[in-house]
Amino acid sequence: MRLPVLVFVCCTLWACVVRPHCAEAAKARHFKWEVSNMFWSPDCEEKVLIGINGQFPGPTIRARAGDTIHVELKNALHTEGVVIHWHGIRQIGTPWADGTAAISQCAINPEETFTYRFVVDKPGTYFYHGHYGMQRAAGLYGSLIVDVAKGEEEPFKYDGELNLLLSDWYHESIHTQMVALSSKPFRWIGEPQSLLINGRGQFNCSLAAAHTTGAKQCAAVNRQCAPVVLPVQPNKTYRLRVASTTSLASLNLAIGNHKLTVVEADGNYVDPFVVEDIDIYSGDSYSVLLTTDQDPSSNYWVSVGVRGRLPKTAPALAVLNYRPTRASKLPALAPPATPAWDDYAHSKAFTYRIRARAGTPPPPSTADRRIELLNTQNRMDGHIKWSINNVSMVLPATPYLGSLKLLGLKSTLAAARPAETFSRSYDVTRPPANPNTTVGDNVYVLRHNSTVDVVLQNANALAHNTSEVHPWHLHGHDFWVLGYGDGAYRGDAADAARLNLRDPPLRNTAVIFPYGWTVLRLVADNPGVWAFHCHIEPHLHMGMGVVFAEAVHRVGKVPKEAVSCGATATALMAGDHL
Ligand code: C2O
Ligand code: CU
Repeated sequence: MRLPVLVFVCCTLWACVVRPHCAEAAKARHFKWEVSNMFWSPDCEEKVLIGINGQFPGPTIRARAGDTIHVELKNALHTEGVVIHWHGIRQIGTPWADGTAAISQCAINPEETFTYRFVVDKPGTYFYHGHYGMQRAAGLYGSLIVDVAKGEEEPFKYDGELNLLLSDWYHESIHTQMVALSSKPFRWIGEPQSLLINGRGQFNCSLAAAHTTGAKQCAAVNRQCAPVVLPVQPNKTYRLRVASTTSLASLNLAIGNHKLTVVEADGNYVDPFVVEDIDIYSGDSYSVLLTTDQDPSSNYWVSVGVRGRLPKTAPALAVLNYRPTRASKLPALAPPATPAWDDYAHSKAFTYRIRARAGTPPPPSTADRRIELLNTQNRMDGHIKWSINNVSMVLPATPYLGSLKLLGLKSTLAAARPAETFSRSYDVTRPPANPNTTVGDNVYVLRHNSTVDVVLQNANALAHNTSEVHPWHLHGHDFWVLGYGDGAYRGDAADAARLNLRDPPLRNTAVIFPYGWTVLRLVADNPGVWAFHCHIEPHLHMGMGVVFAEAVHRVGKVPKEAVSCGATATALMAGDHL
């Protein structure tokens, strides 16, 4: 009986030795999860979604920086594989625990169990979600919140905390959606039926009917879609953690009569700034501080609306409930209106204001390499695809990590590497002159510890006068967002002048605005194979992504169960070593 205790003490002491600021031993936190399909009514219409341990959204993981998370994940879906990705966690030293099907691991088969073991090294607001097919859009997600290590403090003060996990919801199953997106002729999935806050929304009725003429008041409803109530005490400061796992929608959040102070973005502190509302793209997370300094005899609406696409989805509402006012007392003020969906000036003003908090490590002053990625919408044999430098990503049967690490030169991946640039004569303001594209595995090999700049270039889609927002998310890293611009990136002095090397924010998700470009800088210091893709689920499904393979020879021993599929399974059977 003594042994486990001893092992635990040893491990935690060791953890203290390697982490300089370790005030108190970091913990191992164990979770046992079962993923299954279940009936649920997220917006009061009953559907089948993917839940965890009978819950939707999945259980919130709460840990302290330095803790090790163990999730024993059993796949109880009847006929499909599953994986879970820990969005924003860098997986330093554990790239096989990143939870990306066909990239970092094989999908877990029905009835099988896979254990994710990883360290949450940095405090912040994160989340987790399915990363196989479109399972995120089927409801497979939840919050992951990391507090500062014991004995350390956040660089801002607050009295209480509220968590808002935002998502969008479709009534069609993801199977129908995936068939639609890959059929000929192409069928678009359309806009979501509802927006959800903490997994709850209301379809076809409004909680604020009194304020919105014509809308019908939501009837008394079942618990699964009951309005979210955020209880607060007057004259206090709250930290709102807001994250978006939406499939498609870009969102904007505002709270009636209250200003918001942005203090964190994607697990990194930002130079605090005050706004009326915040934009949140899929894959983003923020912490904002809110002071309850309004009339305490009233409640206030928290309103979440659609940005960047002509909204066909009603805003999601929650009630900021000033105690002891009853939660059921309807706010006197109408819910704050979302800025016009195409008011990109508003979006840019918000995004450009995000700067690193003093003390954030600055980027290296120069880069060793520049990778330019042109985002286009294309055709292929009657299908519609999204491509990067005219190659649309298709995931191989053998996970990239196993393939590169175990099979090495015999890797199942294409020998030819994708292009690192695109023609300077490409006209980003028009549909592609040659709309045809091909598919590929899109692996960029990064040299260990090299500094890489990535230019994400947006362009016109297939339809005239159409260019969409794409939030790009990188696994395994934070990157510095050096700057944004409109039109084609030229890399000339004028573009260089738009880059911020002084206090660029560190993030894991960055948006490209319509017809614009965004420049990121990262240091390839985390051996592994990392997905880098548009976080819009249907766009990723249509090929909008690449993979960064980083110093794979330095990756430690990959657990066999992570890569026992495809060609790596054969190699393992033949006794090759990982
Ligand atoms: Cu949150 Cu690869 O995604
Ligand atoms: Cu996209």
